[in-house]
Amino acid sequence: MKKPLFIAEQSSNPRGWFGKIVAKIMARETAGENDAAIDFMSMAPRDRILDFGCGHGQSFRRISRIASQSQLIAGVDQSEVMVTEARRRNQDLIQNGLLKMEKVDSASKLPFDDSSFDKILSVHTIYFISPLRSLLTEFRRVLAPGGQLVLAFHGNKSSTLAASLPSEVYNIRSTQDVSKQLEAAGMKIVGTELYNKDSHAITLLKAEASLVPEK
Ligand SMILES: C[S@@+](CC[C@H](N)C(=O)[O-])C[C@H]1O[C@@H](n2cnc3c(N)ncnc32)[C@H](O)[C@@H]1O
Repeated sequence: MKKPLFIAEQSSNPRGWFGKIVAKIMARETAGENDAAIDFMSMAPRDRILDFGCGHGQSFRRISRIASQSQLIAGVDQSEVMVTEARRRNQDLIQNGLLKMEKVDSASKLPFDDSSFDKILSVHTIYFISPLRSLLTEFRRVLAPGGQLVLAFHGNKSSTLAASLPSEVYNIRSTQDVSKQLEAAGMKIVGTELYNKDSHAITLLKAEASLVPEK
C-alpha cells in the first residue's frame, strides 16, 4: 500500500500538531536502524559528532553514553517541531553543555567550521535532499580528515518498500548511486552493511574523509 502523501510530507519536514505526533512515532520506529548505524560507526569517547536530520533527537541518548568525553555533540534539523522535540528529550545533555541543537535552513551550508566533527550520522534523510551532492560536500567539509560518515537509508530502488513511498517526496537512490556521489565529494567508502527490518533491508554505508583536505 502506498504511504499517503501527507504522511510522507510530514516525514520529510514535520510541522504543526501532527508533526509532534509524527516525532513520537518516528522515535520508536527508527530506533533499530539508529542503534545499528551508531554501532557501525566505531565511535570513540572523545569523538565530536553530528547527527544531520536528527529529527526527534532520540539518537543522542545512546551517542552521549558512548561519546561521553566529547567536546561537541550536535544535532541539526530543518523542522522547528523536531528541533523543539529533540531539545525536550535531551534537556539534560543541553544543560550540561554536551549537546547543541540547531534548526537549519539549508543542507548546502551547515553552520559549522571546517573539520568540526570526527563522526557524522544521518538516518533516513537523503531521500529529501536535492542536490544530494551539495550536502555530501558539506559533510566532507565539516568532517576532520580521516573522519567518518554513516548514512542509513532505503537503498533498494526496486523493493516493495521503495514502491510504497510517494516519489513526489521520496527520491530513493541506490546504494551504488550514493556511493558514487560520496566518492565524487571526496569520501572513500569503507564499509556497507544491511540492517534487516521487518521484511526489508536498510543500507548502512560508511565513508571516510580523506586525510588530505579537499581543494
Ligand atoms: C524521516 S525523518 C528521520 C529522523 C531521524 N534521523 C530518525 O532516524 O528518526 C527525516 C528528518 O530529516 C529532516 N530533514 C529533511 N530535509 C532536511 C534538510 N534539508 N535539512 C535538515 N533536516 C532535514 C526532517 O525534518 C526530518 O526530521
